[in-house]
Amino acid sequence: MAKTLAVATDLWRSFQRERGIVTAIQGCSFRIHAGETIAIMGPSGCGKTTLLNLIAGLDVPSSGQLDWPGLGPFDTLRPERIGVVFQSANLMPALTAVENVALPILLTSGPDAETRALTALATFGVEALAAKLPEQLSGGQAERVAVARAVSTNPQLIVADEPTGQLDQASAVLLVDRLLAWGRQSGSAIVIATHDERMAAKMSRIWWMRHGKFESMVERSACTGAG
Ligand SMILES: Nc1ncnc2c1ncn2[C@@H]1O[C@H](COP(=O)(O)OP(=O)(O)O)[C@@H](O)[C@H]1O
Ligand SMILES: [Mg+2]
Repeated sequence: MAKTLAVATDLWRSFQRERGIVTAIQGCSFRIHAGETIAIMGPSGCGKTTLLNLIAGLDVPSSGQLDWPGLGPFDTLRPERIGVVFQSANLMPALTAVENVALPILLTSGPDAETRALTALATFGVEALAAKLPEQLSGGQAERVAVARAVSTNPQLIVADEPTGQLDQASAVLLVDRLLAWGRQSGSAIVIATHDERMAAKMSRIWWMRHGKFESMVERSACTGAG
């Protein structure tokens, strides 16, 4: 049985806004196991980003329980055990591509940060861009660097929020194929919010969301089942 990385029970997340309370996540329960690949799908505003932020430990639920039994205590999750790809790449503007990718390694006091960062860039075909600043990159190039940054510490869980929004379909498929290959090799779990059904079809599970709830949870492979 694969290691359980994250367990959520009856998660809720509300935001106070000027015009009242928005409840973005409404009673979600799930488990994420090592080696699983999960697509989170659903219309804009259904809660995908909010859920990913909770899974990554970037946000805390308003109520419900969320634990990372296979990963460790909350304050050790990032960047060592969970790698995050933000929706708009979010590279540090004053750092080159290779420095951006090396940063999480340096934060975890890992050795050989630059060499490992270059290896991560090469995994996603952007090692030639190592010395470029984010403003010199196209949107798609920045997304590839952001994915390299997320895997650079060899985390056990990757959380990616629409990581291929700036790429054409062929480049998007290539990037996700490389990320999935990286995940198979490392045994890590990968959770991706996406609108792309072709990409979702490559994942072992699809969680369909609507109005902050799971509408359906599709299992594509028996060996990655619930429990
Ligand atoms: N920080 C926030 N403050 C207020 N409302 C938010 C915040 N984050 C998300 N929301 C609201 O929660 C709902 C879900 O948003 P989000 O998780 O971004 O959905 P998705 O990623 O599926 O588009 C939306 O109604 C959004 O406006
Ligand atoms: Mg979103």
